[in-house]
Amino acid sequence: METKIKALDRSCLKPEDFKEAVEILKSGGLVAMPTETVYGLAGDAMDEEAAKKIYAAKGRPSDNPLIVHIADEKALYELASDVPKEALAAAKRFWPGPLTMILNKSDRVPFGTTGGLSTVAIRFPSDNIANMLIKTSGLYLAAPSANASGRPSTTRAEHVYEDLNGRIPLILDGGSCKIGLESTIIDLSVVSSGKKPLILRPGFITKEELEEVIPGIEYDPAVISRKPSENKVAKAPGMKYRHYAPAGTLTIVEGKSEAVVNKINAEAFDKKYKRIGILATKETRNLYKGVQYDDEALQNNLKKLRPISLKFKEKASYGSVGGSIELEDIRQHLSLEEPVIFTVGSREDDASIAAELFEALRNCDELALDVIYSESFEDGPLCQAIMNRLIKAAGYSIVYV
Ligand code: TXA
Ligand code: MG
Repeated sequence: METKIKALDRSCLKPEDFKEAVEILKSGGLVAMPTETVYGLAGDAMDEEAAKKIYAAKGRPSDNPLIVHIADEKALYELASDVPKEALAAAKRFWPGPLTMILNKSDRVPFGTTGGLSTVAIRFPSDNIANMLIKTSGLYLAAPSANASGRPSTTRAEHVYEDLNGRIPLILDGGSCKIGLESTIIDLSVVSSGKKPLILRPGFITKEELEEVIPGIEYDPAVISRKPSENKVAKAPGMKYRHYAPAGTLTIVEGKSEAVVNKINAEAFDKKYKRIGILATKETRNLYKGVQYDDEALQNNLKKLRPISLKFKEKASYGSVGGSIELEDIRQHLSLEEPVIFTVGSREDDASIAAELFEALRNCDELALDVIYSESFEDGPLCQAIMNRLIKAAGYSIVYV
């Protein structure tokens, strides 16, 4: 299957921009779309066959339920069998936006979409492309993150192409996703039976913000755990799988900044015969020994090795841009003598760290790094969301200094 990429201009979206995407969706096919969090791989949520295609394209286990995307709050009453007052309060405050609510499903929602569960995950995205796609198709769109299962979620159309080229007919390119981490998920299906609402996945909307409208909301212990433990089974099925992982071995180093820098420098020096990466921040990047990822010579080398990717970036709208041979080329031809230092945002604004984390993990794979060290992120409103992803990507490998 040819995968076409269609670049859209957010400032002047027209119904014609969505014609092809709507035709594909209505005939049961899949379209990748941008959202404010990450790219989603969308199909008709009421069509079990479309759900099957989503699982197949991602290589995702089919017991892992999909989020249903809506563009009008009233859809809650069609998709859920009961809508508790907490859901209405959260919708009023946070929708449209990066919040997903789990509610008891109505009979209309097929089990193929919910992974066999009697609950359904519902989200009303704020992204104007996603919004218009839902509205013009007149469908509810089931959409998991548009990455191959296990890989970091995708925050740019190029990343979607990298993972799903040949597996889906169309990617709508809306540029970089603003938030860069997936939505906060809360479980409200339990409140009717008197149980406490839970946060199943931390995200851009924080526990503190949620507490303002849902007093007493707590984290599912599994999502903030630093150790994989049998007695903490994640309630969101997707949280139990290996996730977000780069191909190389990632280790988080946690402690005071100076100690972290010293430890990473020592480790990176020790193993310099391997291809090593360091995830740093604007504040610490110059304290590490190695070459910066944004170094001009390194980027020029990458560009030379990446003619196909380049073509991808230069054209506003394009058809199929070839296979992923260029990644293999880069791996074979780029000699890396020193560790590569990636700048993942700034500690002064942890939203910038959230926005850049998945791309940095993907860039590690592009350079075929074997060993990666990352700083830890303990402060700031988004630290739970960031660490939740990073700890999974590291397979719980954390060194304390
Ligand atoms: O920001 C987002 O939420 C993105 C964009 C595309 O909207 N979507 C996304 O979907 O991250 P996905 O499928 O990659 O992650 C959805 C998570 C999975 O961990 C899944 O197990 C959980 O939500 N989930 C979905 N339905 C559920 C349900 N009924 N009960 C518990 N967990 C559920
Ligand atoms: Mg996902």
